[in-house]
Amino acid sequence: MKRAVPALAACLLSSCGYFSKDVRPVLDEPFPKKLSEWRLFVGDLKQLRPNAGVVPYDLNTPLFSDYADKSRYVWMPKGAAARYRPTEAFEFPPGAVLAKTFSYSGRIVETRLLVNTRKGWVGVPYVWNDRQTDATLEIAPDPVTVHWKNLTIQYIIPNTNQCKSCHDRSKTVVPIGPKARHLNKTYAYSTGPENQLEHWTKIGYLTGAPYPASAPRNAAWDNPSSGTLEQRARAYLDANCSHCHNPQGPADNTGLYLTADQPDPLRIGFCKVPVAAGHGSGDLRFDMVHGKPDESILIHRMDSVEPKVMMPEIGRSTVHREGVELIRAWVKGVRGDCVNPRAND
Ligand code: HEC
Ligand code: HEC
Repeated sequence: MKRAVPALAACLLSSCGYFSKDVRPVLDEPFPKKLSEWRLFVGDLKQLRPNAGVVPYDLNTPLFSDYADKSRYVWMPKGAAARYRPTEAFEFPPGAVLAKTFSYSGRIVETRLLVNTRKGWVGVPYVWNDRQTDATLEIAPDPVTVHWKNLTIQYIIPNTNQCKSCHDRSKTVVPIGPKARHLNKTYAYSTGPENQLEHWTKIGYLTGAPYPASAPRNAAWDNPSSGTLEQRARAYLDANCSHCHNPQGPADNTGLYLTADQPDPLRIGFCKVPVAAGHGSGDLRFDMVHGKPDESILIHRMDSVEPKVMMPEIGRSTVHREGVELIRAWVKGVRGDCVNPRAND
């Protein structure tokens, strides 16, 4: 008993222990079984009121996930910062936590965490209970039926293995959203509106960032004042496809690269013969054809929910009508022809 007292006192003084109110630092698995145990949020959990040091953030153009509402937060251990990189995700310190919560009409379905452990990034989904009091870590969650407007959606929560189907760069798990071009926008913080890159720098979460005007910035796919039709279409493909379709991603072998800064029209699909022809391609010849959305495999695959046809191949069970319309409108206006197509290389 005598020896327990100093240990407890030490714990109360530092942030290590059970009584701490700070975010729980975790550097190794196993992870806490309940979302509440991380202490990312304070008070009534479903209000998602961020704890000290937990910072909300948003992306210029996000990933479409069956119309789910999403909120995103970042936390880093005291004194630690991420390092700026112009094109890749920032380099985060050990212990950093990224959290993304999915909900429909206020009902929270899941909160996904990416945790930078000593062994690298690990992703886990926490599934919310019906009473919305807490969420539990589940390795292989069941689908959940959700409603959005007049749609009934079998919402699929990816299992822990599937995280790396998308969060993958050269076979290691990586974050996707925290890149300069996604974060370079104003966010309405409780302290007032501020550019996110500037805010992260100010609070010590980011080092090496240039002024926002000198950093890359994606358009907002659904806001015409944020960029041209082409810029918005490219931002959409960047956010929805480029985590697989890039030279280090899981779809590298296709040679179809959809990052917003890809300069080569062939690489983004124009007159590009697909690696696999046939059914998945709708028997069309090219990934994209100037001025002809109906002849473009890329659009055909966005417009499908059929396994082996639909793109992205996981992460949705409905067609994103508004997204398909945006890409159609863009392709319709692109001039050129595929009379002398380059062979796939
Ligand atoms: C279909 C592809 C896909 C799958 C599968 C997927 N993610 Fe993501 N995830 C993304 C994309 C794209 C983003 C960034 C865009 C956004 O947040 O809208 C993202 C963002 C996140 C974020 C916010 C930080 C970041 O990297 O941007 C977390 C946390 C996250 N995902 C966790 C997970 C976990 C955990 C799993 C597995 C249970 C998972 N994700 C499965 C595509 C995917
Ligand atoms: C989870 C990873 C992943 C995501 C995200 C993804 N794809 Fe793919 N994509 C693949 C893989 C793997 C292939 C190769 C196998 C096949 O053709 O089905 C492929 C093939 C394709 C092809 C055929 C390309 C060729 O030239 O062979 C097109 C077109 C395509 N994807 C479009 C898209 C679009 C558009 C998006 C975003 C809306 C997207 N993909 C998102 C993994 C992905």
